[in-house]
Amino acid sequence: MNCRMIQGAKIVSTGSAIPSVRVDNEKMSSFVDTSDEWIFTRTGIKERRVLTDLDKSIIDLSIDASFEALKSINMHPSEIDLVILATSSPNDLFGSASKIQYEIGAINALAFDLTAACSGFVIGLVTAAQFIFTGAYKNVLVIGSDVLSKWVDWSDRSTCILFGDAAGAVILQSCNSSSNSILNFNLNTDGKYSNYLSIPYEESFDTHPILKLRQGCFKYISMNGKEVYKFAVSKVPLSIINSLTEINMSTKDIDWLLLHQANERIISAIADKLSISSDKIISNLSKYGNTSAASIPLALNEALKLKKISRNDIIVVAGFGAGLTWGTIVIRW
Ligand code: ACO
Repeated sequence: MNCRMIQGAKIVSTGSAIPSVRVDNEKMSSFVDTSDEWIFTRTGIKERRVLTDLDKSIIDLSIDASFEALKSINMHPSEIDLVILATSSPNDLFGSASKIQYEIGAINALAFDLTAACSGFVIGLVTAAQFIFTGAYKNVLVIGSDVLSKWVDWSDRSTCILFGDAAGAVILQSCNSSSNSILNFNLNTDGKYSNYLSIPYEESFDTHPILKLRQGCFKYISMNGKEVYKFAVSKVPLSIINSLTEINMSTKDIDWLLLHQANERIISAIADKLSISSDKIISNLSKYGNTSAASIPLALNEALKLKKISRNDIIVVAGFGAGLTWGTIVIRW
């Protein structure tokens, strides 16, 4: 990490929210040709939550997660200086963060969306840390929230079984630089392979008789599952090792490995490469599937509620996904 640090940053609070509707693998096999056995052995997923007409929207999930984080430290929303919403499924292409800022009453905060798919939360947290390290802001609310159910082709069994909807939030707060808990990060992009995972925009050229405009709409998630798998298992361990080595740490120092919850086989393969035992892995994928930008804060909030994480534990958090993007943050809790 190469930055001028005026003050340190630490996560002081977390929250999360999930839709009420639960779809288990058996239910999936009632509308696509699949089975609980196939899904569970290939992915580790048992069920996922999806936003339906019984729930409201991505904004409401994000608000619930944010209020949980605020309430747990009795922070008034007006104390928040910045709201970053990491999402690839906003309600508005101009951004959904400002609606959340208004609804939670963060009247003093700047708010913006950050689009980086399943790496969105990691990149959002690093972005928040930069504003704190430089002394610009004191309290930043980082939300990872996705409702990929609206971009999934529910007749495509190779993708629809993977994803679920959720929101997670953390509050990053300034502290003395000697107590800084964001120890290092490593972020990467390789746009050459962006077609491996995409929600493409499909244009038609005859939408205006004179101007021949390029207008269209977004289609469903398209994914080359095998290539995404190989990418994650090869690139993420290197990112983790680089971010540890730079601060004279090694994989032996890791107390908790918290990876983007995409697939149990990806998580285990990365842990094996790093020689990290399974009891150090934080995972709740079986209950929620791949919730994209929400997966890391959702799993972090749950692990904290289960009192798994202790003060001074080293948590290595890594995200990966469309872009392709991937990145690691080393945190001292
Ligand atoms: N149920 C039953 N059979 C299925 C299903 C299903 N849901 N999906 C595919 N199959 C079939 C295929 O048709 C194929 O059949 P065939 O051999 O007769 O052609 C067979 O199962 C094997 O299919 P593969 O695609 O080769 O299965 P694979 O072992 O690669 O597993 C999977 C697929 C689970 C998607 C895996 O490739 C994977 O997890 N990749 C990573 C995907 C991922 O994590 N994406 C999200 C990244 S994060 C983000 O940014 C959003």
